[in-house]
Amino acid sequence: MSEGRSGLVWVTGAGGLIGNACLEVAASGGAPPGPRCVGDLGLCARGLTRPEIDLTDFDAVDRLFAAERPAGILHCAARSRSPACQADPAGARLQNVEVTRHLAGLAEAIPLVFLSTDLVFDGRRDGSTGGYREDDVVNPLSVYAETKVEAEALVRRNPRHAIVRTSLNFGRSPAGPGAFNEELAAAWRAGRTVDLFVDEFRCPIAALETARRLWALLATGRGGVFHLAGSERLSRHDIGRHVADDLRRSEPGLATPLRAGSLKDYSGAPRAPDTTLDCTHLTALLGESMPSFSAWLAARRRASAR
Ligand SMILES: NC(=O)c1ccc[n+]([C@@H]2O[C@H](COP(=O)([O-])OP(=O)(O)OC[C@H]3O[C@@H](n4cnc5c(N)ncnc54)[C@H](OP(=O)(O)O)[C@@H]3O)[C@@H](O)[C@H]2O)c1
Repeated sequence: MSEGRSGLVWVTGAGGLIGNACLEVAASGGAPPGPRCVGDLGLCARGLTRPEIDLTDFDAVDRLFAAERPAGILHCAARSRSPACQADPAGARLQNVEVTRHLAGLAEAIPLVFLSTDLVFDGRRDGSTGGYREDDVVNPLSVYAETKVEAEALVRRNPRHAIVRTSLNFGRSPAGPGAFNEELAAAWRAGRTVDLFVDEFRCPIAALETARRLWALLATGRGGVFHLAGSERLSRHDIGRHVADDLRRSEPGLATPLRAGSLKDYSGAPRAPDTTLDCTHLTALLGESMPSFSAWLAARRRASAR
């Protein structure tokens, strides 16, 4: 983190779930107003949201970069919804690949952390129960995942740059229901029953936990590929049950009907049955284990009851 101005770090996608969580983590470690500093890391967050700058306006991004000379970039901006990518592959490539190419070029001499996804894997290894490692073979099943694989290849060229693949993130999206928990809550509040697979597995994590580790990784200045996800392998249906339990505590009386489905009866677009991630590499680097989703929810409930 030697280049750039006084530890200023760009957080792209700061109006989204994980980018906003990065700002919250920064805010809890520093004193607003002004740049928000991350605890003792000596880094200050500078959130970039779409209303301030469209990252596909490359000239504007160049000008801002020259003016601010950030010391690092947490690149959280993306077209992150798979259906939106599927409906507009060219737009998805622009947002996810070309924006990343441009930022990685600007950030040639500084650390950049690029957010990728567990969906780079097809989740179909024979006899597997997930546990994908960083060097396992990728096989994207969707346009969204293809754009991430393509962007990863660009980011990998610079040894200062890091790729972080994460799984389902739990939290609060400033721009409205975006996180899986928010989508479930919106469905239940609208009186709908939610269908979730009992045989599709992920390793959910709170966005704040992801964000804390993104800052810590950036501060190490280490490049490479890292998996960052919850330590529990949970089915979509189990994840839904945890979210429902949690929601009913804050909204007593809310009906949270869940129906168990199976991939065996599903005939839509291809889905990855088990993309759970082995996070040993990042755990060892940061010296901190990954949180279990259910334990994290329970700890949060205890803290808010105090
Ligand atoms: N959340 C998860 O569960 C999850 C799981 C795996 C990987 N990831 C990855 O983690 C990263 C962050 O995800 P997220 O859930 O925080 O996504 P998100 O909530 O959709 O936030 C992404 C943000 O980026 C902004 N953005 C996109 N293109 C932009 C552009 N050209 N200029 C300026 N801003 C732009 C979006 O603005 P608009 O809303 O205006 O487009 C949005 O505010 C993404 O790379 C995503 O693929 C997320």
